Formats: sequence, structure tokens, C-alpha cells
Amino acid sequence: MPLIERPRRLRATDSLRRLTRETAIQPGKLIMPFFAREGLKEPRKIAGMPGVYQHSRDSLKRAVADSAAAGIGGVMLFGVPEIRDATGSGALDPQGVLSTAIADVKSEVGDSLTVMADLCIDEFTDHGHCGVLDSQNRVDNDATLLQYAAMARVLADAGAEVVGTSGMIDGQVGAVRTALDEYNRSDVIILAYAAKFASVFYGPFRNAVESKLEGDRRTYQEDPANGKEALREVRLDLSQGADIVMVKPALAYLDVISKVSAMVDVPVAAYIVSGEYAMIEMAAAAGAFSREAAILESVTSVVRAGAPIVCTYWANEIATLLRRN
Ligand code: PBG
Repeated sequence: MPLIERPRRLRATDSLRRLTRETAIQPGKLIMPFFAREGLKEPRKIAGMPGVYQHSRDSLKRAVADSAAAGIGGVMLFGVPEIRDATGSGALDPQGVLSTAIADVKSEVGDSLTVMADLCIDEFTDHGHCGVLDSQNRVDNDATLLQYAAMARVLADAGAEVVGTSGMIDGQVGAVRTALDEYNRSDVIILAYAAKFASVFYGPFRNAVESKLEGDRRTYQEDPANGKEALREVRLDLSQGADIVMVKPALAYLDVISKVSAMVDVPVAAYIVSGEYAMIEMAAAAGAFSREAAILESVTSVVRAGAPIVCTYWANEIATLLRRN
């Protein structure tokens, strides 16, 4: 049998491999998450996330200036308040840590980056849940929608161009869209964490935001075993006005990214979460493999699966690396 097909022909040189490469990470499609911590004077390390910091107002401004210089697409801001309460009222404070961070970042980077903010109250509640609780300590879906609607307007006022609805509360995209539209802010974009799973890989993030959560989020985030249900969540978010849909985590959910990508005609994003970041950082630090190669291969796999927009703690570094090469 003569060998007609010889795929190796196209792999012979670096330039051939470049020519035939199907996907590429694009710096302008990377989103870098940042943690703004109220009251800090200096940036503070986060346990489990080597190289990632809680920021002071000054260090956040410097960090986002670096992001702009690296040419990434956007930054996603999380606020870590000093004080929390049952309803997460700090999330609605126009002078609160998140609004302040948004305004600081906006004034630092202008339009050179897209400024995004997390729209969820878990960093602001003393129980750590993403919603308000009812008399039996269950997350009260519809009461939470009222909080999210109010929070959307506060974030928009502060200067957020994109709000990331990350709470996995039914109807959140519609509630936020209506609240913004009735507030004459139809320009604000909704990045819907549409398929967000109840994942163990959010572990280090809990340190990053000093979460007070006891228990878990399994009554609202998705069961990791469910792929079809992820498509249902995406369909619902689109019907409520989501502009961009996100799958989260990313690396353990490449099949979901692929299915979502095949289903929708809006941009698809995926979030390489804190624990996925930590796994690679710690394995590389222990000498298991080359750190840089592992980062690039991981992010490439997410793009190849169908999410060209990647939210990752490596965004600045990758963009800088790609521009240098
Ligand atoms: C909720 C939120 C979480 C993350 C982003 N937004 C935590 C959670 O759902 O438990 C996790 C991000 C990460 O782990 O990197 N506001």
C-alpha cells in the first residue's frame, strides 16, 4: 500500500507549522482578572495563586497600565471589601471598593482596554453566597435578582463597559438587561457566565476574595456531570440578552466549550480559573514541565475548543510573550 497521505510533510519546518496552524492565541482577546482589596497600602500575595495579588488602589492602576501596554483585550475587576453583611450591601455602594476600582481603572486606561466588572454579591456577603438568603438560609432567587439589578446600575455609573453576571441565579441576565435599559444604559454589555459549574477549582479564588463561604454552591452552580444542561443555560442567557457567553472553568470543560461554540452566534469566552492556574504553576514550580510551554498549550487548547476569548491570570504575560516572539 503506497503512502498517499503523509501529514508529517506539513510539520517539517517552523514556517510550515506556522502556515498550517489552525488556531492562535490573540493578545487582544485575553481578559485579565484583578482583585481590588479595600484599605490596602501595598499589594498582598494570595495563597494558592503564586504571582497573583490583591491590589491597593495604586498597585491596581500600575497593573492595568501594564495590561494596556501588553495589548490585552480587557480586565475583569473583583472587589474585596473590608466589611460584609447579609445582603451584600457593599456591592451597591457607589463609593465602595468595586466602584472605586472601576473608576480608577477607567481613568488610568481610558479606551485602550475594555473595563469589565464582576456582577455578583458573594464578595460582599458575610455568608459568602452569591445571593441573599431566605428565612431557611437558602439562596433566594428572585430577591437576589433585585440586588443584581441595582448592582448593575452602580457598576455602570462607575464606568464599567461590561458586567459579568457570575452568580448563576435564574433570570439574572434578563433582570440586569432590563435594569440597565430602563436606566438608559443599553450600551452596557453583558458577559454572561452562562455555563458555570460548581467546581473545586475555584479553591484559591476563595482566598483571593477572602470568602466567608461555608458549604458549597451546588444549589445554584451547575453539576460538573452535566453537559446538556450547560447548553440549556446558554440558551436561556441568550434569550435574556447575553452579549457574550462564557464557560467556566475552562480546562476541565473543553467539551462544553466546543458544544457551546457550535450552538451560538455570539462571541464565546472561557475562564481558566484559579485552581487551574494553580495546578500549572505548582507543577511547573515542582519541575514537572516547562511553565511557559504549559501555559501556552493550555490556553491554546481553550481557543481550539471554541473559545477565542480567554479570561486568564496569565493574560498580561502571554500577550507580552506573543508580542516578543
Ligand atoms: C463568583 C465568582 C467566582 C469566581 C469568579 N466569580 C467564585 C465562585 O463562583 O465560587 C472564580 C474564579 C476563579 O476561581 O478564578 N463571583
